[in-house]
Amino acid sequence: MFVTAALPYANGSFHIGHIMEYIQADIWVRFQRLLGHEVHFVCADDAHGAPIMLKADSEGIAPEELVARIAAERPRYLQGYHISFDHWHSTHSPENTRLSQEIYRKLKAKGLIETRTIEQFFDPVKAMFLPDRYIKGECPVCHAKDQFGDACEVCGSVYAPTDLINPYSTITGAAPVMRSSEHYFFKLSDPRCRDFLAQWTGGGRLQAEVANKAREWLGSDTAAEADEADPAADGAPADPQADTLADWDISRDAPYFGIPIPDAPGKFFYVWLDAPVGYLASLMAHCARVGLDFESFVAPGDGLTADGLAREQVHFIGKDIIYFHTLFWPAMLKFSDFKVPDHVFVHGFLTVSGEKMSKSRGTGLSPLKYLDLGMNPEWLRYYLAAKLNSRVEDVDFNADDFIARVNSDLVGKLVNIASRCAGFLTKRFDGTLAEADPATAQAFAGGWAGVDAISDLYQQRELGKAMREIMALADRVNQFIDSEKPWELAKRPDQSERLHRVCSDALRAFRDLALMLAPVLPATAAKVGAFLNQDGATWASLREPLPAGHRIRPYQHLLQRVDPKQVDALFAPPPDQESGPAAGPAKAAAGAGAAGAEGAGAKTATAAAATTAATAAGGAPSGMDSGTGIIGIDDFSKVQLRVARIVSAERVDGSSKLLKLMLDIGESQPRQVFSGIAAHYDPADLAGKLTVMVSNLAPRKMKFGLSAGMVLAAFGAEDEKGIFLLEPHAGASPGMVVR
Ligand code: 2FM
Ligand code: ZN
Repeated sequence: MFVTAALPYANGSFHIGHIMEYIQADIWVRFQRLLGHEVHFVCADDAHGAPIMLKADSEGIAPEELVARIAAERPRYLQGYHISFDHWHSTHSPENTRLSQEIYRKLKAKGLIETRTIEQFFDPVKAMFLPDRYIKGECPVCHAKDQFGDACEVCGSVYAPTDLINPYSTITGAAPVMRSSEHYFFKLSDPRCRDFLAQWTGGGRLQAEVANKAREWLGSDTAAEADEADPAADGAPADPQADTLADWDISRDAPYFGIPIPDAPGKFFYVWLDAPVGYLASLMAHCARVGLDFESFVAPGDGLTADGLAREQVHFIGKDIIYFHTLFWPAMLKFSDFKVPDHVFVHGFLTVSGEKMSKSRGTGLSPLKYLDLGMNPEWLRYYLAAKLNSRVEDVDFNADDFIARVNSDLVGKLVNIASRCAGFLTKRFDGTLAEADPATAQAFAGGWAGVDAISDLYQQRELGKAMREIMALADRVNQFIDSEKPWELAKRPDQSERLHRVCSDALRAFRDLALMLAPVLPATAAKVGAFLNQDGATWASLREPLPAGHRIRPYQHLLQRVDPKQVDALFAPPPDQESGPAAGPAKAAAGAGAAGAEGAGAKTATAAAATTAATAAGGAPSGMDSGTGIIGIDDFSKVQLRVARIVSAERVDGSSKLLKLMLDIGESQPRQVFSGIAAHYDPADLAGKLTVMVSNLAPRKMKFGLSAGMVLAAFGAEDEKGIFLLEPHAGASPGMVVR
């Protein structure tokens, strides 16, 4: 099997959403390996594209350097969470260049590539064509300022970037001009593509809801839906009138960090063309490294190759990139004579306490902080497994639920079995197992689904159900121990044989439980293997109970309980980033974004510290200096601050962090702002109070509604912890400008 997880963009660290996907895929992969399948599980950095190029630019480094810096971080996370990729590669690699160009050439030879001249906004200062996401302007419908080029976040209207009033480039601020350029298109509208995709999407490879979505796209409302699937994707076909799949614009003009299009000087593949090819590139590099025949994995056909072994190609992805993986990618592979994917398994998003994650910032749950706090990665693996199913549903991380489930299931049910029985075996019976009691085995067999059913549940990615069934067996074993009371049997010399059998049978079941949980808890399963003196067990070992006379080793501690204090620390705001006292205590703005308060605070604090340091060192803040963080008055005055009266404040259903504030700043209607201050304020205390808000912050669509601004607050650190809203002196009134 050739299994992949979605390639993460190489311009940022992993967030918890990535980790969730890798854990889900890793559990499935480990299960397949346990069954005896040969699995090659690969991933890579998605290195190309305008955002990475521009970010590197802004840091004054080459994109390669940025990509290398991010790549260097990856192993800590992957090892930390026991993610067992066989290889990690990069789309900025010789293999990917070779494969992407080969695929392109084959598509071209089949008449599936055509060129067209298109008109596009061009930034005359940066001398580059602007992807839609780098164009902002005034909404043509409601006249809200600073709206993105595709849709208005205030009134919800959808339009083209050319409809914006006074458009500007967010890179340089310059007014963009229209320029024409020749672009390369993959002709998805070709009947061959359409027929193939109709058949491929209907072939039982996809989850029902994903297949339906793909078929909808193949039908009439293709383009509008594509934009919804990935609002950030500037390469999705964009002709809402199209009644067939629109052709796909696969080229970008220089300057672009990407793979050159053969025989087309100054033209590069759009990042989404070479990103999935990165799956193959990673496999190719892996095959070269370990001496496997790459061709046999990617040859077209039903996957049966000369050696008689079936090959399967499986992709795990999130629901935001279904479009690329169920239409473009299979079509690219099919018409360049590669094998097409056997499955694309789609998962929902991870929310934290009901709050949606931002693709770039993640949520308030930092995967690295989790590890740094010494929290066990297997707690998270188990918790996510317990919540995952085979549908495209979001999964919520809830701190209280996490503590309760891990402690009750893993410690209270699983570990408890071994810790209650192992000592008697070691001390009284030289660590050897008694003959199995058929009656006990019989008793354990009822009341839970059984090994085969659990195997099916893993196979179908119904991990939550699998965990529940495994825990149902753990319950039965614990009930057996409760009723047999080995600690009392141990006091009665005439019950020695029974004690031996009870503990032996309980440990046999414990072996099975640990083995069935091995895909989820690989480190614990390895410890159990050592303790039970049984290395290399496979799923088939579940059919072979540990024999009489088998000798176990002394019980060693297996798994700690979750300490709620660790979870508190995990969600505590990050520590103060300033060093000197000069920076002052008021550091930040209370974020309007989901779980954004901490991030915004940290950034502002850093800027404040830099200002202080530079001023103290004698630097005159006369203008913008990107190196020191000093800004000129012009930059400062871009931020519009107003006195706001809190008309009402209320808690938000499904969020422990956010309060919904209605703010009067002298406009015809109060503004709705979500602020991450719920833990620090009783809403009743806020109504009627004055505070200060940023009134020209681009509104953000949140799960709970639109947030149209941000209130300001001071963030206490260490011994003065808390969040303190700013309040003007008496005399100020709503709408007054703050400067
Ligand atoms: O959406 C994303 O994060 C992309 N980097 C995923 C790419 S998956 C594959 F196509 F490479
Ligand atoms: Zn509008």
